[in-house]
Amino acid sequence: MASAHVKKSPAERPAPVPRMQPAMMMFSSKYWSRRGMSLDSAMFQQQRHTGGQMSRRPSFCPISETPGTESAEDSGKTAVVFSLKNEVGCLVKALRIFQEQRVNLSHIESRASRRVLSEVEILAVCSCSQREFSELLTLLRDAVNIISVNTPPNAWAAADEDDVPWFPMKISELDQCSHRVLMYGSELDADHPGFKDEVYRQRRKYFVEVAMNYKFGQPIPRIEYTEEEVRTWGVVFRELTQLYPTHACREYLKNLPLLSKHCGYRDDNIPQLEDVSLFLKERSGFTVRPVAGYLSPRDFLAGLAYRVFNCTQYVRHGTDPLYTPEPDTCHELLGHVPLLADPKFAQFSQEIGLASLGASDDDVQKLATCYFFTIEFGLCKQDGQLRAYGAGLLSSIGELRHALSEAACVQLFDPKTTCNQECLITTFQDVYFVSESFEEAKEKMREFAKTIKRPFSVYYNPYTQRIDLLKDTGSIENVVQDLRSDLTTVCDALGKMNTYMGI
Ligand SMILES: [Fe+2]
Repeated sequence: MASAHVKKSPAERPAPVPRMQPAMMMFSSKYWSRRGMSLDSAMFQQQRHTGGQMSRRPSFCPISETPGTESAEDSGKTAVVFSLKNEVGCLVKALRIFQEQRVNLSHIESRASRRVLSEVEILAVCSCSQREFSELLTLLRDAVNIISVNTPPNAWAAADEDDVPWFPMKISELDQCSHRVLMYGSELDADHPGFKDEVYRQRRKYFVEVAMNYKFGQPIPRIEYTEEEVRTWGVVFRELTQLYPTHACREYLKNLPLLSKHCGYRDDNIPQLEDVSLFLKERSGFTVRPVAGYLSPRDFLAGLAYRVFNCTQYVRHGTDPLYTPEPDTCHELLGHVPLLADPKFAQFSQEIGLASLGASDDDVQKLATCYFFTIEFGLCKQDGQLRAYGAGLLSSIGELRHALSEAACVQLFDPKTTCNQECLITTFQDVYFVSESFEEAKEKMREFAKTIKRPFSVYYNPYTQRIDLLKDTGSIENVVQDLRSDLTTVCDALGKMNTYMGI
């Protein structure tokens, strides 16, 4: 019997019902535990194991305008943080892997672990290609406990200075988040449909390189999809579009035809992320960027704070078009994109992202769970009927049918309780959460966000695409000035309506 954290083998999967696995969120607890954890998730797990005895690891680094503080990636390097038992010979054993893989270390630092008293943490900055780094990580994972990869050196250096986790302060710093991939899309599990297909594996490596080379501000590279990839997309597209009229929410149904018109959503064409991004920018201010694989919840949610959605570009394996063990471009384009074009949904998504910036690991985990049960698996009521707005549902034929059937358990969305619900990865959810509207869900999330402990509030400045920290009267006054200006505009508009239209 499959459990939430044990993936079924292909032979065990229920063959008769065409379905995509619900494991389509951008992050998955299964992979954090199996594939090396992010700093945040590693801490979260450690907290659970030690009953919350662990002190939070501070890693906040304030914005710096001075040269010489670039990230490891900016300087063409990659970095990994791992922990070792504080025993003789442990470091030598780990370093031997670097030597055997011929990966040069340009910088190495150690310090006592704050998470486990008997361990030390090592920061190793490597001079190598992303491919070499990926191969190194595969071997390293068997020998040490990887805490984070592509760690910005400034986050490590600032660890002792403050008590707030690092987060991007401007949109270009999302490069650091999006490149800090927990599991590369080219690392396929033994039961992945494409595991034994060398051509498919090479193709996945290509998509990893495209995503890892991408930086903020660049046009997203256009992909020349193969005939097989287009055929696979076509099967998914045709199956799902039959269900949408009776299962998808009205915002989805409004935007899908627009995407067909402006971005080439057709069964014989896989839309390009660049076209989708330009479309979303005009509709809701969202943009998308390519990502190589799974991100930690903290890094993924940080993107939402800037109205940036990390999207995979690869296509699932063609032997089983209605099944994928991970999010692929079919999931992103059909599940997420149509809703991201809705301004109210976009704002709801951004609220979750903003709440996550600088939050504790525990709070990020709660927000990630709320994200999971809304943006991935959320339901809403429209005209007295349940409709789906979650991308995990809208890209899964089997679960879309199930969630709206009598067999599904549906409860009212309430972040205080929803945040404690278990997220299931390889089976349908035990519970789905319904909201009256995105507006209502947003207000609830806003109230919930007030319970998150942070020594400041955050304000997204759309003009500079930066986060303003509201922690003193000066910073708050700047926001008040903006609000005053907006209120003046609204009052002027009301006055004109009164004068010219008698309203
Ligand atoms: Fe997703």
